[in-house]
Amino acid sequence: MNILVVGSGGREHALIEKIRESELCEKIYCAPGNAGIAQVAECLDIQPTDIEALCNFAKEKQIGLTVIGPEAPLVEGIVDKFESEGLKAFGPSKDAARFEGSKAYTKKFLQKHNIPTAQYKEVHTFEEAVSYLDKFTYPLVVKADGLAAGKGVFICPTKDDAYKALDDVMNKKTLGDSGDVVVLEEYLDGVETSALCFVDGQTLIPMTSSKDYKRIFDNDMGDNTGGMGTYSPNPLVDEAMAEKIEKTVLAPIMKGFLDDGIVYKGVLYVGLMICDGVPKVLEFNVRFGDPETQVLMLRLETDLVKIMLSCCDGFLSRQEVKWKEGCAVCVVMASGGYPASSEKGVVINGLDSVFDENIKILHAATKIVDGKFATNGGRVLNICALSDTIENARQSAYKAVEKITFDRMQYRSDIAKLDK
Ligand code: AMP
Ligand code: GLY
Repeated sequence: MNILVVGSGGREHALIEKIRESELCEKIYCAPGNAGIAQVAECLDIQPTDIEALCNFAKEKQIGLTVIGPEAPLVEGIVDKFESEGLKAFGPSKDAARFEGSKAYTKKFLQKHNIPTAQYKEVHTFEEAVSYLDKFTYPLVVKADGLAAGKGVFICPTKDDAYKALDDVMNKKTLGDSGDVVVLEEYLDGVETSALCFVDGQTLIPMTSSKDYKRIFDNDMGDNTGGMGTYSPNPLVDEAMAEKIEKTVLAPIMKGFLDDGIVYKGVLYVGLMICDGVPKVLEFNVRFGDPETQVLMLRLETDLVKIMLSCCDGFLSRQEVKWKEGCAVCVVMASGGYPASSEKGVVINGLDSVFDENIKILHAATKIVDGKFATNGGRVLNICALSDTIENARQSAYKAVEKITFDRMQYRSDIAKLDK
């Protein structure tokens, strides 16, 4: 079948590399893709939120499966539109995608179904928000309700910091409409892990564990980013913890969907903080994580297209989902200025000097300038390695990273360093 992947990052490149292995896959298109993706798929000049154009293209080319990478088209209802035209699309409906479109909606759902999460208060005006500032302990977490491309969460050490964050988001509208409603949330101290799951409306199957690094600098310093690296499996999630997460978090979520009549299909990404051995939900995303997907796809044994089709058609309970024994590491190479800004058009050197068969170089934001690969956004490349241990994968990944250079590049040197 012909398959269309919507999106342009390293996540989409990782999905495409896995989709290519499927015996069901004939031709892959990507909208809009990037220079690396263009080597393995036909890239289209259509933006992910141009739902009408995507739908017309899918009809014209008889696309058997459309895979949606980013959240924006999901929140805008791309899956509903495709299904109404008789087309198959992997991802949740507009209604189910509200879990990413509104943090307050997710908090209400978690509370209603007694799923462990931080204490919170939803506020609708600046004055109301300020009136609660003395009722919380610090640090306090201030979250814009709507989509904010990873920039909507403020960890505020003091009341003054919280006041400033609220003023920025609710009065100065620094995040636009996304800050109309705000969630004030108890700070959770612990270790983070990501639990991504395949869901078909009835059945939820957790993927293997992975760990993301959100901050820009080593030792978790500096601003939050989309993610600077990942590894899988996460040793913190041993069998007992995986069972606990499934029993206390994931199963109640699935039951909550069924009780509330929410038909959730696609990937559910549950961000967790493990606090003194107790997993608590930080957030839901309604899509694959980036860069979690890069390591997960390296470790997925089963045909991804078959899994996706079973999610769309409601046969997930009969579908196997198997993982390879090995360990995967992904190091993100980012542009100068990221995450505040990013340079574009900077030539990348050394891409053809990596020969290690354990390495996969995925492109996150690249374009061709004068016949050469160049940067085209914040996160530029994902250097991924698969090996027998996390440490060996880590060493392979960094060996490859050292061969690649571009002006003002940044990457963390502590991804998957487990000894700290
Ligand atoms: P979110 O978009 O909700 O996942 O938040 C982004 C990041 O902020 C998370 O990955 C955490 O590192 C941090 N964060 C969010 N909520 C909390 C919380 N209640 N306590 C501590 N850290 C948090
Ligand atoms: N890596 C975090 C995310 O995809 O939201």
